[in-house]
Parts: sequence; structure tokens; C-alpha cells
Amino acid sequence: MQKRTLGPCVTFFPQPTTIISSVADDGQVNLMTASWAGIVSKTPPTMAVSLNVGRKTYENILQSGEFVVNMVPACLAVEADYCGIRSGRNENKLERAGLSLEPAAEIGVPLLAESPLNVECRLLREVELGDYRLLLGEIVEIHAADSAFSASGEIDPRAFDPLVYLGGIRQYWNLGEKCADAYKDGLQIADKNS
Ligand SMILES: Cc1cc2nc3c(=O)[nH]c(=O)nc-3n(C[C@H](O)[C@H](O)[C@H](O)COP(=O)(O)O)c2cc1C
Repeated sequence: MQKRTLGPCVTFFPQPTTIISSVADDGQVNLMTASWAGIVSKTPPTMAVSLNVGRKTYENILQSGEFVVNMVPACLAVEADYCGIRSGRNENKLERAGLSLEPAAEIGVPLLAESPLNVECRLLREVELGDYRLLLGEIVEIHAADSAFSASGEIDPRAFDPLVYLGGIRQYWNLGEKCADAYKDGLQIADKNS
């Protein structure tokens, strides 16, 4: 495959589009879009988010020790983009975007009601990365939309319709089609006689 070098940059995809909810000292809830977010350990269940130190969200999380990572459905692309280009220091993004909240189960930070998958986190520690801080959060509860489950309890990812972010080229896409089963289809090679 013929390739070109891009230098050290942030072009990499797919990435999730998430909205992080957090609460300030005065009780005001803030919403911030983040694509540098993901689950990084199963035992214990751990979420990592990387935030610039200037974000209102970073300040809130350090003060409260809690945050929620909300998956963004494709139908909220415009609202999510807005939450990524304005700061909660200057405006109430929840109100302006017309979004709503519902209580979490284990922490004081609320869930984004319009999100089909919400991950409640308690801050464990932070790692310094220049202007950014990698925040590691213990996952204490996850809420998933009932409508995504079949009668037998299987999840249909199309019901979540997650918004995919293409970092570097700054575009939002849909999920696309399923092409294989994980931890299964690779067995065609793993189990083949060598
Ligand atoms: C698609 C997208 C993804 C983003 N991902 C991140 C991220 O992972 N970390 C970060 O610090 N900022 C990220 N941003 C920028 C913040 O969302 C933006 O600076 C926001 O205004 C910060 O809000 P706050 O000050 O209310 O916390 C992203 C913006 C967009 C549009």
C-alpha cells in the first residue's frame, strides 16, 4: 500500500462522539463534547477522557470528582457540535441546545436524557499530557436505552445510532454496516492448521 506521512498530528478515526456532563460548585450542569474518550480497562471497569486544562468541564470534574460520558446519537450531531465550540464559562449549553437531564444512579452528576448510553464515572486519577490531562474514571454504572434490546436481551447497535467522529478531518459520520463478529471470526485463522 502506497502511503504518505502526515507528521505528528491528531488524524485518526473512527472516534466516538461523546458529551461529558459535569457539575460546577454552584450546581450548574455543563455539557462538553469529547472524542478523546474510551473504555481502557475491564477489571476494574475504567473510562479515560482527555481534557484540555482550560475546559470548564476539567475544572468541574476536579472539584466534584465525578462525570458522565454520554454517547451521542447521530440525530444530535448539531447539538453535539455546538457543545464542542462554546464553553460553559460563557453560556448555559444545556438550555441553548434544548437538551435535558435525568438523575444518575450512583453519582451527583446527571445523565443526558437524549443519549442512549450513559456511563457514570468517579475520578480515579489524572495523567499530565502537556496542555491536556488524561482523566481515569472508575465506571460505577451504565445506563442503556431499553429500546435497543431484543426480547432475548441482545443489543441492536442500530438503535443507538452512534455518531462517529473523524479526527483530523473534522467530520461526523454514521456507524455503517456490521462486517464481522469479534472474538469469533478470527478463529477461522487461529484454528487453521499451520
Ligand atoms: C467533535 C469534537 C470533539 C472534541 N473533543 C475534545 C476532547 O476530547 N478533549 C477536549 O479537551 N476538547 C475537545 N473538544 C473541544 C471542547 O468540546 C470545547 O473546547 C468546549 O468548548 C469545552 O467546553 P467547556 O469549557 O464548557 O468544558 C472537542 C470538540 C469537538 C467539536
